[in-house]
Amino acid sequence: MLIIPLLCLVIVWYLVLCWKWKKNVFDYMEKLPGPKWYPIFGTTYAFKGVSREEVLYKLLDIIQAHRPLFRSWNGTDAEINIMKPEHLQVIMRSSTHITKGKFYGTLLPWLGEGLFISEGAKWFAQRKLLTAAFHFKILEGFMDIFVGKTQVLIDELEIKSAEGNFFNIAPIIGCATLDMVLHSSMGVPVKAVTDDPQKYIRTSQDLTELAVWRFLRPYLKWDTLFYALPQGKKYRENLKYLHEFSAKVIACRKQQLEDANRNRQEGIQVAKDESFNKKKFLSFLDLILDVSGDPCLMSDADLHALVHTFLFAGSESTGITSSWTLFLLGNNPDIQEKAYEEVVRVLKDKPIPTTLAELNELKYLERVLKESLRLYPVLPFVIRQLTEDVELDGYKIPTGTQAILHIAQVHRDPQQFPDPNKFDPGRFLPENIKKRHPFSYIPFSAGPRNCIGQKFAIHEEKTFLAAIIKKFKITSKETPEEKRLFAHLVLRAQDGVNVKLEKRDDR
Ligand code: HEM
Repeated sequence: MLIIPLLCLVIVWYLVLCWKWKKNVFDYMEKLPGPKWYPIFGTTYAFKGVSREEVLYKLLDIIQAHRPLFRSWNGTDAEINIMKPEHLQVIMRSSTHITKGKFYGTLLPWLGEGLFISEGAKWFAQRKLLTAAFHFKILEGFMDIFVGKTQVLIDELEIKSAEGNFFNIAPIIGCATLDMVLHSSMGVPVKAVTDDPQKYIRTSQDLTELAVWRFLRPYLKWDTLFYALPQGKKYRENLKYLHEFSAKVIACRKQQLEDANRNRQEGIQVAKDESFNKKKFLSFLDLILDVSGDPCLMSDADLHALVHTFLFAGSESTGITSSWTLFLLGNNPDIQEKAYEEVVRVLKDKPIPTTLAELNELKYLERVLKESLRLYPVLPFVIRQLTEDVELDGYKIPTGTQAILHIAQVHRDPQQFPDPNKFDPGRFLPENIKKRHPFSYIPFSAGPRNCIGQKFAIHEEKTFLAAIIKKFKITSKETPEEKRLFAHLVLRAQDGVNVKLEKRDDR
């Protein structure tokens, strides 16, 4: 008896919601230009039947047709695509629009509510706590680890160079950067947790690719549907491996700390090179382990989420950037020679930089790195959810809209960077920086939600790039025009970053 009135009530309630959505969201967004939309899919329909290799190129076509400010629809979720520096500034500089976009929800089962995705008071508390782990003094303490890992990397590259062929350098550098972030931030060398570091890298790459695949299919928002598919099952398998990996890292560090405590109590001198024995060293993991005993400050799930976050954010980002830098140097022999001359002048007969003072002296190398990050930013876009209405170019963008901030697009804006596809480190001379809008170059994002690890990244990359440039002459197999890209969250190369290394005479 009650069923019919109840059904009517549900229908009326649904119609009211639709009417409100049309009045408050749809009508405003449809004033903006943008691609054609279809029911259920929204504008993601454009990606229907597009292969994984072509997704980025399809997106670039859409951007080209509607730039610089346009709307898109992920199902019924409104999206605003932003790529002008003055528009980016409105969102990025704000302390209001710091909520991450819905896309990151697809990564929640992996990265949990760690710093990358967390929101509100939790994000604020984590950010405050972890800022201490990136203090200048702590970064200085990491130099020994960076140098040790760089030596291992150079030895491996020497073997590759002796073979005399082109090879994909990205996975080799990826393993080195994974080891660097694990050992420095967590006190655990990679060999203590796995004898196949490539597997960690491959698995996290597969996971981000699956997350993007799911995001482009709005009807897969429902977990039950997604996990019933082969892609969902693969996602679960990858997740299991990554959770086991982070659990091993935490267990290993806890064991080290327990052993150190016991030894201290028993008066046994701990080996000198053990990181936790150095007073100046306080790893990121130690900081969070310290508060993890108190569930109000940090639950077990938060601890795991933070470890996942730092492994993901801290390893592939620097690995991929360095590979792109070598690729660009291998395409630009004059710039490579200039970087080489600087490295020789600063390091003299040392093979690897060992101090922050030396790294700071490598000014040309820093400009090379910045220019590589301009052309190939690790995250070509990031997404925020607007938490209040915003006005851009006279359009009202309603609260709740997903703001897609196109970092890679502003980096190739010809008004900010004339001849934008040209690799020119001179763009980062102080007098040239001054001429540009402050939000025209944002590889680490900007504002309160910027990258916490940017100094760490630059120190680490400069250390091993300087060592590679000093030891080898680099040639790239493909030109930037030939190189095909993927953008499954992170900007990666299709078919690897292929280079040949020729050993230089020692100088
Ligand atoms: C070249 C290297 C790197 C680049 C280009 C880069 C870029 C970025 C960008 C663009 C964001 C903002 C993401 C967003 O708004 O959605 C970000 C956030 C973040 N990055 Fe990095 N990153 C790099 C290296 C690192 C390293 C080495 C670490 C840690 C050791 C790290 C840890 C983080 C964390 C934890 C966040 C989230 C910060 C927050 O939301 O408060 N990143 N990074």
